[in-house]
Amino acid sequence: MSTEAETNAPASSEQTLPEGARRYFANPYTAYQQLRTKPVVWDAEFGFWRITRYEDVDAILRDKRFAKNPPPGVTDLRPIKQVDRFSKGILNLDPPDHTRIRSLMVKAFNAKRMEAMRPVIESLVARIIEAHRSDHAMELKADFAHPIPATIISDMLGIPVDQRARFSRLSQDIIRFGNDLLAADDNAADHAIREFDEFLSALVRAKRDSPTDDLTSALIEARDDGGALSEQELIHNVRLLFIAGHETTVNLICNAVLALFGNPEQLAYLRNNPGKMPMAVEEFLRFDSSVQQLPRVAQEDVEMYGETIEAGQMIVLMLGSANHDDLSYVNPDQLDVDRTFHRSKSFGGGAHFCLGAQLAKIETEIAVRKLITELPGLRITNLDRLSYPPNPFFRGPEAVQLEWD
Ligand code: HEM
Repeated sequence: MSTEAETNAPASSEQTLPEGARRYFANPYTAYQQLRTKPVVWDAEFGFWRITRYEDVDAILRDKRFAKNPPPGVTDLRPIKQVDRFSKGILNLDPPDHTRIRSLMVKAFNAKRMEAMRPVIESLVARIIEAHRSDHAMELKADFAHPIPATIISDMLGIPVDQRARFSRLSQDIIRFGNDLLAADDNAADHAIREFDEFLSALVRAKRDSPTDDLTSALIEARDDGGALSEQELIHNVRLLFIAGHETTVNLICNAVLALFGNPEQLAYLRNNPGKMPMAVEEFLRFDSSVQQLPRVAQEDVEMYGETIEAGQMIVLMLGSANHDDLSYVNPDQLDVDRTFHRSKSFGGGAHFCLGAQLAKIETEIAVRKLITELPGLRITNLDRLSYPPNPFFRGPEAVQLEWD
């Protein structure tokens, strides 16, 4: 397995946000607290219901009355175009297609295979740190967090080393659909998806001609009773894996480091007890999740707390709010790496539970442990000047400047 670390500048948001929105994206948890006074809230601006509490989010993730696509006969009630762009990716499919394609993908992500990646990830992180050690400074997101999951998922998918930087740039453009949703202009994301898919078609053609030992070749080869994946299914799912496989983990690593530097006693405790890191990662996921919201569509009328969610209406599960619900967590706004009840909703739940959860946790565990234990006097120099892209779905800072002795 080749592990070629790449460096990519993170997408920077050039939009000038109103002060209220800037404050919200810097810290949505205060607003969530207010939102949770009602468990089901109608958002008139976007035309969907927000579900705010842990128990309800948890239950709906397993409730078959809520799905990804509108029920038969309902065609025009989807306010978020993202669903169309990823229509054959498992993230946006319902049974039976979801079950069929997921079962072909799931084998590649079993816990044993993921655990076997540890030494590869350890040595990749060590190499990145060594590449920067004598600079005494780096930008956390672009120089450190990004190359870790980007290299690992590119290796897994068999993306040629010389094409990775371009793939990563396109992936970041696509991720910005969340910002475009606010700006009501999503041409950039559409354009990036078209370019991305041209690359993927060529990749799939090359792997069909000469299969290699990677996930893309395995998905081309995979067959079940329903046959092989169609060309569109292949492309949408390789694209999904590439994007889901790194943007979320990059942000989790950054959010975890920020959480620790905002809580110096927890940072000191973890430095002295690095064996606590796996539990700490569960707490990082809960404390500041890189995925904040998940959409679903009601398949029939559903009564909740005296409100009627009508068949075909969209609901948005507020994961970040659920993770800070004081009906489920003691001192939810406090980072506590010794917390015993985690079970955060950050990887979702039910049939769509994150396929890469184990991989993401291992990557974050190794990345954060090495970063905080191997660079003496590590500090953040722009803690009071952090900015966050105006993306309601994904959460992570634009740039975090690090220095060490
Ligand atoms: C911190 C990192 C990550 C977070 C927070 C995260 C979060 C999530 C969430 C919340 C879902 C459920 C979506 C829904 O129910 O609508 C999901 C699904 C998914 N994730 Fe992740 N993810 C992460 C990392 C990864 C990685 C590393 C991979 C792959 C290498 C990955 C691949 C997927 C896939 C393929 C799905 C779709 C599963 C399905 O619909 O059946 N994720 N992820």
